[in-house]
Amino acid sequence: MQILKTPQDIQSQCRKWRDDGASVALVPTMGYYHAGHMDLMRHARTLADKLVVSLFVNPAQFGPGEDLAAYPRDSERDAAIARDLGVDALFTPTPEVMYAPDHATWVAVPDLARGLCGAARPVHFRGVCTVVLKLFMLTSPDVAVFGRKDWQQLAIIRRMARDLNLPVRIEGRPTVREEDGLALSSRNVYMTPEERAQAPEIRNGLLLAREMVRRGERRVPLLTQAVLHRWAEHLPLGRPDYLSVVHPESLEPLDAVGDAALMACAVRMGKARLIDNILLTA
Ligand code: PAJ
Repeated sequence: MQILKTPQDIQSQCRKWRDDGASVALVPTMGYYHAGHMDLMRHARTLADKLVVSLFVNPAQFGPGEDLAAYPRDSERDAAIARDLGVDALFTPTPEVMYAPDHATWVAVPDLARGLCGAARPVHFRGVCTVVLKLFMLTSPDVAVFGRKDWQQLAIIRRMARDLNLPVRIEGRPTVREEDGLALSSRNVYMTPEERAQAPEIRNGLLLAREMVRRGERRVPLLTQAVLHRWAEHLPLGRPDYLSVVHPESLEPLDAVGDAALMACAVRMGKARLIDNILLTA
């Protein structure tokens, strides 16, 4: 596995591969690998001749007062994991080589970035889109793989790729969870043992809503009330940031569950802000 640190190096390596007729898959990450990241890499490994993984804690997607400085890092362990999974090139740039001091160009999908996580994190998705487009320009991937845990991120990247005619296929992968149902996240390490013990209740609330829909309930206010009620009882250390039911592609809020509906949430557990989501319809 090559470890490449500059935009020039990754771009010329990927260009060389393409000139030789090889296809390229890309998995963008911020590191501190868990089984969710590993699933994306394993899957992407099967999709193309060459697998590129980027490991970059992207400052542009963190707002003031967010956890940029505290974001967990372990680049040696991450490199060993990537190597074991058959990654061909690990791209590990510094912020300085990714962003010129007078960087001034941004890519945004405001209509999809206003709600859900975007409400509390106004510059977040602009930072995500910009770095992901930069990574696409550096690696020219045939396919790029993202997790559905970050549903809004995936929807926004799909829209950006469609709207800008990017020649890349976007693939989404199911959320990998702990045995107790908690969605894996690099940020889970921020939790105290007490918070960690309650955290699976985030998912249990979403499962309750899906079960209510299965039994015929369609009214969104009743669904969200039931989840918030369950959380108040079983998740006293959690502070819900939002709990919304939206159309899975447009991310428009829904009053009633129709053919396609996604329930998505963010819950603060002490220092951690955890997100999860569930499709309410089969
Ligand atoms: P990061 O949080 O490191 O996540 C990298 C990829 O792993 C994303 O596509 C994310 O959705 C996926 N992922 C995270 N947890 C997962 C889980 N439990 N199961 C399955 N997939 C999971 O998301 C980012 O980084 C950044 O915003 C990035 C896209 C790299 C842009 O900077």
